[in-house]
Amino acid sequence: VNGVLEIPVVFNVLYRTAAENISQAQLQSQIDVLNADFRGANTDYNSNNPFNNVRGAINVKFILDNVVRKSTTKSSWGTNDAMKRSSQGGIDASSPTTKLNYWVCTIGGGILGYAQFPGGATATDGVVCDSKYTGTTGSATYPFNKGRTATHEVGHWMNLRHIWGDANCGNDQVADTPTHNGPNSGVPAVGHRSTCSGQPLEMYMNYMDYTDDRGMYMFSKGQVSRMAAIFNSNGPRKSFR
Ligand code: ARG
Ligand code: ZN
Ligand code: CA
Repeated sequence: VNGVLEIPVVFNVLYRTAAENISQAQLQSQIDVLNADFRGANTDYNSNNPFNNVRGAINVKFILDNVVRKSTTKSSWGTNDAMKRSSQGGIDASSPTTKLNYWVCTIGGGILGYAQFPGGATATDGVVCDSKYTGTTGSATYPFNKGRTATHEVGHWMNLRHIWGDANCGNDQVADTPTHNGPNSGVPAVGHRSTCSGQPLEMYMNYMDYTDDRGMYMFSKGQVSRMAAIFNSNGPRKSFR
């Protein structure tokens, strides 16, 4: 990608209660977080850590394109994509090959969000985040009140795997991220190491870990290359160029 890649975002808000019908200001605060985090403009980007030399930024700009709202009687939606189908009471995606669709609803089961990787069905393409874990204002709830659930989910949408490779000492297909035993939670102690080969320091401040929002603040350069590749002329999200 040469120059800035603009990504229009359509929010599809499904609400049963007034609190779930989150405000335009809360949605805009999420756009602001995505722009800061992907572009390395977040205030915590410069936190001192052993990985300063591999942190990376990608030149994308998220734009709040539209908000579609629908009231529902469902109190939780699960993860079977029902929120993405009007035939199941949800909201159909808008132009999913040129716009990032972001469903806001109560998922349930302690799940903050989930995403579809590149290369899947267009009708279900996009990310889903719970209304309580979207943005930084209104109903945004500690410790996931800094909009980083969406940073993590959009990371998946841009082809990133979990930093622990979804296995003990697994492979996330990124060379400059260390091997982790598994997901971290809370905010790990400085100097936390994995017990995987070489006992590397874990990069628990990476957005693709499960650390609390206040403890995650970087992508690596290798992750940035992997994200940028999907927008190349032969990449699975070339339609966004
Ligand atoms: N996919 C993860 C989940 O649903 C999201 C983790 C987001 N982490 C965060 N700090 N906001 O549990
Ligand atoms: Zn994830
Ligand atoms: Ca790695």
